[in-house]
Order: sequence, then C-alpha cells, then structure tokens
Amino acid sequence: MERENFGSKLGVVLAAAGSAVGLGNIWRFPVETGQNGGAAFIIVYLICIVLLGIPIMMSEFFIGRSTHLNAAGAYRKLAPGTKWNWVGRLGVLTGFIILSYYSVVAGWTAQYTVLSVANYFDGKSATDYIQIFNDCSANPWLSISAMLGFMLLTHFVVVRGVKSGIEKFSKVMMPALFIIIIILVICSVSLPGASKGVEYLLKPDFSKIDGSVILSAMGQAFFSLSLGLGCLCTYASYFDKDTNLGKTAFKVSIIDSFVAIMAGFIIFPAVFNIGYQLEGSDVGPSLIFITLPNVFQQSFTSLPILSYLFAVMFYFLLVVAALTSTISMHEVVTAYVSEEFNMIRRKAAWIVTLTCSFVGLFCALSFGPLSNVKIFGFSLFDFFDYVSSNIFLPVGGLLISIFIGWYLDKKYVKEEITNGGTIRVPYFKAFILILRYVAPIAIGLILLNQLGLFAFMK
Ligand code: TRP
Repeated sequence: MERENFGSKLGVVLAAAGSAVGLGNIWRFPVETGQNGGAAFIIVYLICIVLLGIPIMMSEFFIGRSTHLNAAGAYRKLAPGTKWNWVGRLGVLTGFIILSYYSVVAGWTAQYTVLSVANYFDGKSATDYIQIFNDCSANPWLSISAMLGFMLLTHFVVVRGVKSGIEKFSKVMMPALFIIIIILVICSVSLPGASKGVEYLLKPDFSKIDGSVILSAMGQAFFSLSLGLGCLCTYASYFDKDTNLGKTAFKVSIIDSFVAIMAGFIIFPAVFNIGYQLEGSDVGPSLIFITLPNVFQQSFTSLPILSYLFAVMFYFLLVVAALTSTISMHEVVTAYVSEEFNMIRRKAAWIVTLTCSFVGLFCALSFGPLSNVKIFGFSLFDFFDYVSSNIFLPVGGLLISIFIGWYLDKKYVKEEITNGGTIRVPYFKAFILILRYVAPIAIGLILLNQLGLFAFMK
C-alpha cells in the first residue's frame, strides 16, 4: 500500500504540535495546577517535560520514522519475533480509550461554542451556569449528539489522509489558535485584580509538593505532549528522511508548554478578578464550563460586547485545539487497523469512528443516567482518565525508554537520530543516559509510590 508523508517541515511541526496542544493544555492543565498548588506544580511539570518529555518524544519519533509503520508494526519491525509489539498494541488501546472520553469533553466545548455565539450567557447568574453545564453534560441526548458530532468531524479530516487532511488542517488551525491565545492573554492580564492570578502562577509554594503532585505532574506532561501511546510515533512514520528529530521534539515541547502556561494566564487572572477562591468546586473538571462563563460575563460589565467576544473566542479555541488532538489519536488507531488488517484507509477509519463512538456513549452517559456506576470509586469517565493518563501513558513511556535505552543497538539509534550522520547531535550521550537510567527509574519509582507498593513519599 502506498504510504503518504507530510509535505513540509512546518507541516510536521504544526501537525505534531496540533496533537500535543489540546484540551490537555487548556482544560486539564489549569485544573491540575489549581488542584496541586499552583506555581510549584508548574515547576515539577516543566522538569518532567525536559527530563522525560523531550527524550521520550525523540524516542517515539525515532521508532516511527525508522520504520514508517503504525505503532504495533513499528515495534515488530525493530524487534522481530519478540513481545515488544505489545507495547505498540497497548498504545493503540490507550489511544482508543482516551479518544472515547476526550470526545465527550470536546463535545461540550462544541456545545459551549454554539451557546456563546448565540449569546446565551448574557445576563445569567453564577447558579445558572451550574444548571447550564448540567444540561449540557447530564442530558444524554445533548452530550451524546455533541460527542458523535465531534467524532464525525475528526473522522472527516482523518479520511482525507495525511497531507490533505491532517497537515492542511493543522497549518490553518494552529496559527489561528496562537492568535486567539495571545488576544485572550492580553485581555485577561489587563483585568483589575489580575495580578493575584499572575502571582499564583509565578510564586511557588514548595510545601505543596508530595508524591501525588509529582505523579500528577508527570501524568500531565505525558498527556499534554501526547506521549506514551505511539501517537507521535505514528506521526513520525510520515516524516521525511531529513527531518531533524531532536529539533522537532524540542520545538513541539516548547510550543506545547507555552500554550499550557498561557492558558493559565488566561484563566487564573480572570478567575481571581471576580474573587473566586481556588479551592473546592471552583476548580475541577468543570472549571472552564461553570467558572469561566461567569468570569467572562463579570469581567467586562461595562462593555458586554467584550464578554461576548471573549467567550466566543475561548470556546472556539478549545474546539480547534481539541480537534487537532482527536485527529491524532484517531490516526493512531486508524493506521493500526488499516495496516495490520490490510484494509483501505476509509474502511479502517469508519471502524475506528464507530467503535470509539460506542465506548464514548458510556463515557458521555457517566455524567447523567450512568453517574451511579462506579469502578473503584471512580465514575466511568474519571476511571478512563485516571487509568489511561496516570498509568498507561507512564507505563508506555517506561517501556519506550527501556526499549531504546537497553534493547536496541545504539549504533542504529544514532544513525537514525543523526539522519545517517548528516546532522550533529551533541546531546546523543545524554539522550541515551536519560533513557537508560533517569527515565525508567523516575517513572518506575513514581508509579510504584502511587500504587502504594513502595512508599517513599506520602
Ligand atoms: N496531548 C493532547 C492534549 O493535550 C491529547 C492527546 C492527543 C494525547 N494525542 C495523545 C494524549 C496521545 C496522550 C497520548 O490535549
């Protein structure tokens, strides 16, 4: 079967950044930051990005580009006759799970875009927003149709293929997203009382750091960079021979962290502006759906048109960010189904869309009719989120680092990372050192600690 490649270097960076930048940055990151103590959490998070994120991203790029195959096929080619291809399969499964619950939240962002365009938030009070969110999330018809709509949008970009679907879409949407972010940051930090929010993001309180904060920061780093499930490995399988893997990983990580922190600068100053406390129900998954619409309304009481524009831009931003990410997860599973089962792309994509929507149904219903169904005390949605990002992604990252740090021949790895010796990679030794020791030990300890098997931190 003829395999496509991305058409340009810019396309490569924007597509990978499109995968990385998503609800993880704008929805999950502020919530995690708020729940884990602000600036101190951000510092641990950034350490995880540099120490674990960039090397593991390079590893995924390496695996994909050196094989030009889907996640499971790639491991099979690099380690024939071994069980390593199960790492790829675990990744595909994780991608499938994340896509199903992620589309539910993405569906809410689409509902909120429609509501804000229709100026529905105008004149509402704080309690109304709770009701509005309940209507959007607990009403099975609304949340299911929004989730299905989002899945179909994703589907139609993916079936168009790598170059004219994924790359083209990212090239238009990512610059639009940057512009919206900058406008929103400027608006938000110029609000009265914003300095408290800025301080919250910049003044660390290290007494807040404990084992679970570190696990959350690591989980967030993996989630946000799209690591651990072969997503960037699949994208890298469409890279050209002359793409600089190290530089690309570096650029994507910078863009991703920048957007996450900017999202903090949009959300926290605005939240502090209307005097919300960052405890209790003001921060939680509903932060951007209950707290923020109120913040938007109250921020510009003298100029309501600004409230309107702020809300419309913000929710549109979320939709775009979410869509470039759902596309990347869909692509992981689609590439896998199509190549491993020898199927044309369109058929594979339909299979993925339909099965994922089916699982997504249950996640959507876990906020309404199925809210009493609990697994280990978690709702279905929270269970999927917790297991996939705090367990499967780090385990995926751990196995990837062992695979490259210990299993593969370093000469071969170096050959690929330096594009056959044509580019200098002075940090190659450090890269291998991290994959051999730092990453496996750090991820291993944090995971064991969290599972309670080896408690070195409370
Ligand atoms: N990184 C995306 C976000 O921040 C979500 C995502 C896309 C993802 N592809 C992934 C997460 C692969 C983990 C693995 O929203």
